Amino acid sequence: HLIVGCGLSGSVIAERIANVWNENALIIEKREHIGGNCYDYVDDQTGIRMNKYGAHLFHTKDEGVWKYVQTFDKWTRWEHRVLSMVDGQFVPVPVNITTVNQVCGENIEDTEEMDAWLSAVQYKGPIENSEDMAVSRVGRVLYEKMFKPYTVKQWNKGPEELDPSVLARIPIRRDFDVRYFSDKYQALPAKGYTHFFERLLDNPRIQVQTGVDFFKYKLEHDLGQFKSIFYTGPIDQYFDGLKLESLEYRSIDFHIERFSDMNYFQPCSVVNYPETNVPFTRIVEYKHFLNQTSKHTVTVKETTNDHGDPYYPIPNKRNMELYECYRQMAVKEEKEKNVHFVGRLANYKYMNMDQAIRNALDLFDRINSKEEMN
Ligand code: FAD
Ligand code: NA
Repeated sequence: HLIVGCGLSGSVIAERIANVWNENALIIEKREHIGGNCYDYVDDQTGIRMNKYGAHLFHTKDEGVWKYVQTFDKWTRWEHRVLSMVDGQFVPVPVNITTVNQVCGENIEDTEEMDAWLSAVQYKGPIENSEDMAVSRVGRVLYEKMFKPYTVKQWNKGPEELDPSVLARIPIRRDFDVRYFSDKYQALPAKGYTHFFERLLDNPRIQVQTGVDFFKYKLEHDLGQFKSIFYTGPIDQYFDGLKLESLEYRSIDFHIERFSDMNYFQPCSVVNYPETNVPFTRIVEYKHFLNQTSKHTVTVKETTNDHGDPYYPIPNKRNMELYECYRQMAVKEEKEKNVHFVGRLANYKYMNMDQAIRNALDLFDRINSKEEMN
């Protein structure tokens, strides 16, 4: 079997093929490393482990996924916290009672008062876009100060231009809970993500070749030799040359800064900067994750762009309709050539890590039960 891409999706598929079927899996990965966007490494100047493509916090409610990841490596419970810089103060994210008190000058003391405040400010009209959606959750003031400018920076589009799904499910804490996620399981791989991937792929039946691009590879090799192909790259690239337009993605630039002989730069690992007068969206200080120790620290500022590596699909009408054309071609390709489209890029859908794992496990199970019937 051939697997294109050594991120979470491709690696889980390879692991299943090798361990369940006892068959060979060749993974080709165009980057120089395994792990896809989860890849991390130890910074040689500070000794701090950091992610190359943005902070990655594992969280899930899915018992099966949680059990699965633990069979390969040790995970350490880690409850993520995020602050947002609004009007010169650090306020908790997601919005909790403290956030409302600090940003809106309220004096709420308990959940009952919080509920009353929320129902007074929440917009109750029809929801046509992300602005309506956000205001229906957090009210006008928090929307204008925290969500609107941040969304503009993140997407380069106003929330009123974006599908309601982009700002759907804005979490709100009706108490003083400062945890960023409310999932039962929240953890980081004790030795880092790259180590977790090494364990996941640790089977002589799995072979990984990095620095190999599928589109070059297929010109030089006979793909007919593979029983099946699992493609985890961008779906539009796969069908490139068929004269359809390209899908749009948002991308991120990561700006690393090191500070010698400084304990911490900021109070927690992630601080969001929603305001438009700062160019970046957030600052990540990796030293906080798993309380790493070093004489120094390192921060990463994130700015967004629309020309770099594809990170976030842009779910607007044009892209969703275009994706539907690609999806139909993918269904055909699967029937005719046994090529499966797996993962966030091939499905043009934002997936958290647990969703990517679930998605790959379920796909494998579907194929496996078909094979058993034959
Ligand atoms: P990817 O990790 O993107 O892997 C696809 C791989 O395919 C890549 O390595 C790519 O190089 C390779 N590839 C593409 N085209 C080719 C080709 N032509 N030839 C060979 N190889 C190719 N999830 C969470 O649960 N928690 C978080 O906190 C979190 N934070 C995130 C922060 C950022 C900035 C981003 C972008 C994502 C975050 N995620 C988070 C989501 C997480 O990264 C994904 O769930 C996960 O990476 C999905 O894995 P994947 O294998 O589908 O995709
Ligand atoms: Na991703």
